[in-house]
Amino acid sequence: MRELIELLESHGKFHRVQKEVDHTWEVSCMARWIYQGLRMEDRFALLFENIKGFDIRVATPLIGASRQVYALALGTTPEKIHEVWLEALRHPIPPKVVDSSPLDEVVIEGDDVDLSYLPVPIWTPGKDRRPCITACVITRDHDTGVQNMGTYRCQIQSRNRITLNTNPGRQGYQNYDSYAQKGKPAPVAVVICCEPAVHMATSAALPKGVDEITAAGGLKGTAVEMVKARSVDLLVPASAEIVVEGLLDPTGRMKEDGFGEFAGYMGEVGSRPFFDVQCITHRKDAIYYGYISQHPPSESTLIQGLANECVIHKQLVDDWAEPGVLDVAINQTHGGLLGHVVVQMKPQYPGHAKKVGRMVAEMGTFFKTVMVVDPDIDIRHQQHLDMVLNSRVNPARDLVIIEDVYSIYDPAGENGISSKLVIDATAKGSLPDVSLPPREILYKGYESWKEAGLPDFEIPHWMDRLLEYHDDRMKAGKKESS
Ligand SMILES: Cc1cc2nc3c(=O)[nH]c(=O)nc-3n(C[C@H](O)[C@H](O)[C@H](O)COP(=O)(O)O)c2cc1C
Repeated sequence: MRELIELLESHGKFHRVQKEVDHTWEVSCMARWIYQGLRMEDRFALLFENIKGFDIRVATPLIGASRQVYALALGTTPEKIHEVWLEALRHPIPPKVVDSSPLDEVVIEGDDVDLSYLPVPIWTPGKDRRPCITACVITRDHDTGVQNMGTYRCQIQSRNRITLNTNPGRQGYQNYDSYAQKGKPAPVAVVICCEPAVHMATSAALPKGVDEITAAGGLKGTAVEMVKARSVDLLVPASAEIVVEGLLDPTGRMKEDGFGEFAGYMGEVGSRPFFDVQCITHRKDAIYYGYISQHPPSESTLIQGLANECVIHKQLVDDWAEPGVLDVAINQTHGGLLGHVVVQMKPQYPGHAKKVGRMVAEMGTFFKTVMVVDPDIDIRHQQHLDMVLNSRVNPARDLVIIEDVYSIYDPAGENGISSKLVIDATAKGSLPDVSLPPREILYKGYESWKEAGLPDFEIPHWMDRLLEYHDDRMKAGKKESS
């Protein structure tokens, strides 16, 4: 993460805050403006170097400030993020165990543990009743020994007690349950700030039995180094800045106070598994990395979207061998993960687009709207999506509503039940030609633009794609008719 900070700094995507700030409101209320005040391409990460009363510094949003920042963290360009992710899912790399790490530099154990030692920001000041650490949570299946990483919030209940926000659908919960069913406490390690690939992989919903650390290896192109945790039988990333360890109580539940949720509203009080912290290890001069979530758009919606669009893409193409699927994007403009999944495909038979839309809608609890579009549409461009919605969708014919979906985070649901919408936005029958000049002539206009000395711009690739697709379609049509 320190290398990433240097890289972001050299690209003007990082700022240090030297002014003394209060972690109980000022960190989050400053950082919130990154998403609510700046355009995607202008966003950057922050390091608060002077937190009132603490030695540990706080960083946010380190990997998910924008697509540009995420691409730098991944060592690629914004256009290639999807490709790099798909490659990583197709070629996972198992981790490598090493003997030691900088985590040995500071160890706080037993009665010395006091979570108020960490500068955990309050993310929705005035509304959150308790601080929450949201980080990579590592657990393990009792029977198979396979570890899992998931990003879950850990609400601080006392000096040393934490509730873990994981529910029966989550693999972290299932791992906890695999011990609890035998009356045993389950080991847990909360990793706060480590190498970027690990954070990225932790928000991917991979199938049970696949440790996300192997996807992190795929993203890096080399094995992630792991080291034994100090007090529990788990491996944690050797690059970690701070690790909190404990054993989840097999039977107990504790009240978790409401917290600002990713869908944009305050969550309700819940009852969660908990653990007592046995040990905190950290490197000297540690950095606390806090994800900024709550009201979308946020770091949470960006990193979950970029990872999970590839998980869906791979599943459709590699695992279900669904023909014609070309690309998948999670549109983060509206409502975070309760927003849009957009699938780009060449339907192979009548009803095919609706079928694929239904399959995707059933895949994840949080995908509220699934839209299926043709290959000429740039699925990461809002203008294109709005255009097809108006020009290729006949609502009476092209919408499917899936009822009775369990979706506790949907603010529009009732008693945890909501519904989903599938939109078949592919052209039915033949489309008229587009009302743009052929590519060749329009590009001549671009040359004339430059000759006239007008301010230069780069032709957007979505425009290029649209023109090429329709030129080819017209040429093919002419051949057929001659
Ligand atoms: C910032 C952030 C916070 C999250 N908080 C939670 C949470 O508190 N509880 C939860 O179940 N999922 C949460 N998620 C989503 C999960 O981490 C994600 O869906 C992951 O795939 C779950 O892993 P699993 O399927 O292996 O359990 C969060 C994701 C992010 C990026």
